[in-house]
Amino acid sequence: MRTEPTDAETAGAHSPLIFLGAGAVSEAIVAGLLAAGADPTAIYVTNRADDGRLEHFRRRFGVHAGRDTAAFPAGLVVLAVKPADAAEALREHKTLFTRAPLAVSVAAGIPLAALRSALGPTPPLARAMTNTSVVVRKAVTAISFEAGVPPAWRRAAVRLFEAVGTVVEVDEPALDAVTALAGSGPAYVYYLLEAMTAAGAAVGLSPELSARLARETVIGAGAMLAAVPEAPEGLRKKIMSPGGTTEAAIDVLDAGGFFRLVEAAIEAADRRAKALGERFRAAFYARGAEPAAPEAPVEPGALDRRSV
Ligand SMILES: NC(=O)c1ccc[n+]([C@@H]2O[C@H](COP(=O)([O-])OP(=O)(O)OC[C@H]3O[C@@H](n4cnc5c(N)ncnc54)[C@H](OP(=O)(O)O)[C@@H]3O)[C@@H](O)[C@H]2O)c1
Repeated sequence: MRTEPTDAETAGAHSPLIFLGAGAVSEAIVAGLLAAGADPTAIYVTNRADDGRLEHFRRRFGVHAGRDTAAFPAGLVVLAVKPADAAEALREHKTLFTRAPLAVSVAAGIPLAALRSALGPTPPLARAMTNTSVVVRKAVTAISFEAGVPPAWRRAAVRLFEAVGTVVEVDEPALDAVTALAGSGPAYVYYLLEAMTAAGAAVGLSPELSARLARETVIGAGAMLAAVPEAPEGLRKKIMSPGGTTEAAIDVLDAGGFFRLVEAAIEAADRRAKALGERFRAAFYARGAEPAAPEAPVEPGALDRRSV
C-alpha cells in the first residue's frame, strides 16, 4: 500500500530558494524553475550592487529581489557569485547560511571543506559544477554532497539543476575531472568549429559560408545525439563508407594523434582545476594551515582574483 510521504521526505520540495548572486547562472536556474512550474513568490535573489539586475529579476520573473537579506525567509541558498567574491559573500550573508537547510555552491573551484571552514557547523553543503550551456537550459551539472545531507534536500538540490539540463551526482574529488571535461567542454567544441571554419575556407568556401556550414553541422550533430539512442562511434561509422571522404579525413586525424591530443588537453585542464582548487583552499585557510576552527572568519581579500 502506498503511504503518504513524510515531512522529512518532502522537506526540500517547497522550501524558499535564495540566490546569492544575480548573474547568468542564477537567471538561468530561475528561468528553468519557473518554466517547470515553480512559484516565483518563493524565490529570493540578491546581489552586491547592480540595481538594474535586481529590477530585471523582478520584472522578468516576478521573484523577490532585494538586498535586505535579513528580511529573506530561511531557505535553500544557492551561492552563485564568482569564486573571487565567495569569501566576502559568505561573510556578508552569514545569517542566510546559518538559517539554511542546505546551501549549494556553484562557484567553480571552491572545495566543500573551504566553504565549511568559512561557514562553521551549518548548513549542510553541496557543490555543483555546471557549464555555459546553462543559459539555454542544456547544461550538464555534476553535484557533490557532504556526507549526511538528507535525501529530501539532495533531491531539492538536484531538481534545481534538472531545471537547466542534465544532472549527475559525483564524489567531490571527481569535480576537477568534470570541470576539465564538461565545464570547459563547450569550448573544445567551439574550437573544433573554428578549425572546421578555417579549413572550409582553405578548401575554397567563402569564410561566411564556411562558418555557417560548420555551425549548422555541429548543431545538427548535437541534435542527432539528443534524438538518436546511439553512441557517437556508431553515428560516426554510419557516415564513414570504405574509401570515402569521411574515412580520408578521420585517417588524417588518427595519424596526427587526435585521441592522444584530446586526452592531453583534458589532462591539462584537470591539472589546472586541481591547482586552482589548491589556491582557493590555501586562500581560505590562512597560511595554508589545517582548516580553521568552525567559526573562524575568512580573511578579507583572502581569495586571489588572478586565479579565476
Ligand atoms: N556562467 C557560467 O556559464 C558558469 C558555468 C560554470 C560555473 N559558473 C560559476 O557560477 C558562478 C556564478 O557565475 P555567473 O556567470 O552567474 O556570475 P556573474 O554573472 O558574474 O554574477 C555574479 C553575481 O554575484 C554577485 N555578487 C558578487 N559579490 C556578491 C556579494 N558579496 N553578495 C551578493 N552578491 C554578490 C554579483 O553582483 P553585482 O553584479 O551586483 O556585483 C553578480 O550578481 C561563478 O562562480 C562561476 O564560476 C558559471
